[in-house]
Amino acid sequence: MPAQQTNPLRVGLRQERVISPQCLVIFGASGDLTHRKLIPALFELFRQRRLPSEFAILGCARRPWSDEDFRARMAEAMASEIQQHQSAWEQFSGCLFYEPVDLQKDEDVVKLGSRLETLDRLKATRGNRTFYLSVSPAFYGSGCRALANAGLLQDPSRSRVVIEKPFGTDYSSAQSLNRVVQSCGQESQIFRIDHYLGKETVQNILVLRFANAIFEPIWNRNYISSVQITAAETVGVEERAGYYETSGALRDMVQNHLTQMLALTTMEAPGRFDPEAIRNEKAKVLQAARLAYEDEPWKCCVRGQYSRGGSPASPLAGYRQEPGVNPESTTETYVAMKLFIDNWRWQGVPFYLRTGKRLPKRLSEVVLTFRKAPVQLFDAAGGTPTANQLVLRIQPDEGAGFVFDVKAPGSGMRSRPVDMHFSYDESFGEPSDEGYVRLLADAMLGDPTLFTRSDEVEAAWRLYTPLLELIEDAPARLPVYPYEARTWGPAASDSLLAEDGLMWRRP
Ligand SMILES: NC(=O)c1ccc[n+]([C@@H]2O[C@H](COP(=O)([O-])OP(=O)(O)OC[C@H]3O[C@@H](n4cnc5c(N)ncnc54)[C@H](OP(=O)(O)O)[C@@H]3O)[C@@H](O)[C@H]2O)c1
Repeated sequence: MPAQQTNPLRVGLRQERVISPQCLVIFGASGDLTHRKLIPALFELFRQRRLPSEFAILGCARRPWSDEDFRARMAEAMASEIQQHQSAWEQFSGCLFYEPVDLQKDEDVVKLGSRLETLDRLKATRGNRTFYLSVSPAFYGSGCRALANAGLLQDPSRSRVVIEKPFGTDYSSAQSLNRVVQSCGQESQIFRIDHYLGKETVQNILVLRFANAIFEPIWNRNYISSVQITAAETVGVEERAGYYETSGALRDMVQNHLTQMLALTTMEAPGRFDPEAIRNEKAKVLQAARLAYEDEPWKCCVRGQYSRGGSPASPLAGYRQEPGVNPESTTETYVAMKLFIDNWRWQGVPFYLRTGKRLPKRLSEVVLTFRKAPVQLFDAAGGTPTANQLVLRIQPDEGAGFVFDVKAPGSGMRSRPVDMHFSYDESFGEPSDEGYVRLLADAMLGDPTLFTRSDEVEAAWRLYTPLLELIEDAPARLPVYPYEARTWGPAASDSLLAEDGLMWRRP
């Protein structure tokens, strides 16, 4: 038997990766994302001893806080977490600093340069910097420009910029933003974040596909008849009406999270486990994706908006009754659509994507439905024979399942579907890290694998351009159907699948 070959590239990637001494600069340090996600993720990295001892976090925003104010605000926001890890927090908070900076004022950004040099001396951070733009998307381009003008992005090996979502609001704005940020530094310095890619279960799509030889031969149009990708939320718009009213579900969830799950599920195997090889394959498959009916895009998409629902004991407001929402809003809180991918692997296989707020269950999953057995020898216990399904459960019940038929107990020979089930929790016994833990570490390591490259982000926007244009120019062609809160979306979304003789999976 030939010896199994060892790929030298993989050996390198398997080794423990160490973050270099550096300063993480967070713009938007007084904002929601910083205290809710970024600082908790950094504290987690600190407690896991994955941060170097030569490390500083410099918070920046316009308000005139001091280092002490910043430390106190972060401690307040994380009070319950800190209670259990008091001494770790005391050490960690020694890494926290603050500098008032208005990103729109060049002189502030120049002054920031001097503060960074002081921190380099104080914390031995050696001029390595990761700048995290956790500010309004309106500042992504101008923020990069201000950093470049202040000479803070000059050395590609020492400076990086992390850009939050959303990256653009459509194809042309994403293209313009890409042009601006690429004029400020090299593509290798830009880390466009999609926190879904930080989830173990999303990364597991790659491992499941490419570490197990049994899947590749059947992972194509010959064996798979359709694919459903769902990201369902139980929450409504909450306090995000200001942002959501201009975004809607298509921009907020489909263009990024659902499209990333689509790309990982459908991409070709990369030649090697290398960031660019993976991103090449993702970009390629997104470039081959298209709406099911290109000339009649309204036929392949259903939009919905939640109306009042819940029970008499706990009634739920409709979207239009939520604080900050226009009472006549036509923003969609639900989208379902059908796509195809025009390549040899997937030609003719329908992909159904759906996402919504105020649905009955919180869950994200990818469901691959296989073709039915060519001859039905047995009666199905439920009446109709089922097809095998592979279910990749992204959240919250992280794992995977495989649905297949077995003999139903009894004297006859009837078949019945059962579920073979893998759970991260049961197998590994510990909850997986928050997506931001992984992504912040990767950005500081300079590993772009889980970040979106410029061509990927543009391909994702291009895919949905016909729908965005329709919503803008002829909204009546893509009406927003009401659906009762805590139901699975408007009936029209069922019709989208019924036309193909299919149904949405009801988890
Ligand atoms: N929050 C989330 O859960 C979430 C999730 C995904 C993506 N994101 C993205 O993350 C980014 C930040 O979101 P957020 O919710 O944290 O926003 P936010 O709460 O509104 O915070 C915005 C921050 O920007 C600062 N800021 C405003 N103008 C500035 C300027 N000219 N110069 C420097 N700083 C300025 C604000 O502080 P001052 O007023 O003191 O300047 C504040 O710290 C957004 O792009 C959002 O789309 C957020």
